[in-house]
Amino acid sequence: MLGRQLTEGMTKNTQNTTQSTRRTTENTQAAPATSEALTVLVTGATGRVGSRVAQAARAAGHEVRAASRSGAVRFDWYDPSTWADALRGADAAFLAYQPDVGAPGAADAVGAFARQAVELGVRHLVLLSARGEDQAHPTEAALAESGAARWTVVRASWFAQNFSEGPLADAMREGGELVFPGGEVLEPFIDARDIADVVLAVLAGGERYAGRILEVSGGRLLSFRDAVAEISAAAGREFGYVPVAAREYGAALTEFGVPDAEVEFLIELFETNLDGRNARVSDGVRDVLGRGPREFTDFVREAVASGTWKG
Ligand SMILES: NC(=O)c1ccc[n+]([C@@H]2O[C@H](COP(=O)([O-])OP(=O)(O)OC[C@H]3O[C@@H](n4cnc5c(N)ncnc54)[C@H](OP(=O)(O)O)[C@@H]3O)[C@@H](O)[C@H]2O)c1
Repeated sequence: MLGRQLTEGMTKNTQNTTQSTRRTTENTQAAPATSEALTVLVTGATGRVGSRVAQAARAAGHEVRAASRSGAVRFDWYDPSTWADALRGADAAFLAYQPDVGAPGAADAVGAFARQAVELGVRHLVLLSARGEDQAHPTEAALAESGAARWTVVRASWFAQNFSEGPLADAMREGGELVFPGGEVLEPFIDARDIADVVLAVLAGGERYAGRILEVSGGRLLSFRDAVAEISAAAGREFGYVPVAAREYGAALTEFGVPDAEVEFLIELFETNLDGRNARVSDGVRDVLGRGPREFTDFVREAVASGTWKG
């Protein structure tokens, strides 16, 4: 099971139809009213966060361009020839880089994409970034230096939905355990719907959040072991948590054919981001939305109700 989790990696997308269907039962909170209906390009639109940004944007009355390699609007970060058609005529864009905002090449790609967006008249660019990830700073800087009239960075903590969608969730469902280099570190897992609500408030806010870096997290610190225990209790199924060293994780990645450069990046990411630096809550959700973050317990309860962790 370790290999299965490793080959796909925590930031890779393995969304499937079942997961997409489950999402339709969720509601993002209504975004603050904006007088302006925008055309919003949403990258990563089939992913954990992008899907919810798209849903919240539609609910707020915006026209959404749901973009990804398999999305309604074809878009590939590694194929710049797909960028202009996706951007042309859009007022705003949500950027979720793949496989990770701090990955090698991310700053170059995001910078080039943002400059093209500016040339094509896209007024507001919102980048999904990661809290405490030094490797993401060049990508954030590339956005800031792109010439965009309005840019905003939303730095998020670890997503709660990593436990319910994607490779880690698949492995839990199939193998009954989470194998991960998270040690006993504490993390304030954030509900992806809160990120979407913040993104929509940023777009509605016009100048208010321009040039700002917003740090958002859940409201409660939990270890990965705590999170798995909460899920076990609510799901009525005992899941194990098996902490492994980042190097061990990396060695298995190599065994499964992941290129050396990507393995090195992931090892460094886990060794730094999961060293305790993120064991703190951030106030971004309350500051922007005027309410606290959704509770991890509620996320778990809703995911259990939709059958997420059934074997
Ligand atoms: N995981 C976390 O806890 C965490 C925390 C903070 C920040 N982040 C950042 O969040 C981002 C990931 O967001 P997510 O977890 O919502 O994504 P995700 O669930 O992993 O989904 C990936 C999305 O990107 C698309 N995609 C994959 N490869 C692509 C490519 N080459 N070009 C264009 N689109 C591509 C996928 O659709 P297709 O397959 O159809 O292309 C899918 O819509 C990363 O930048 C990561 O650094 C993650």
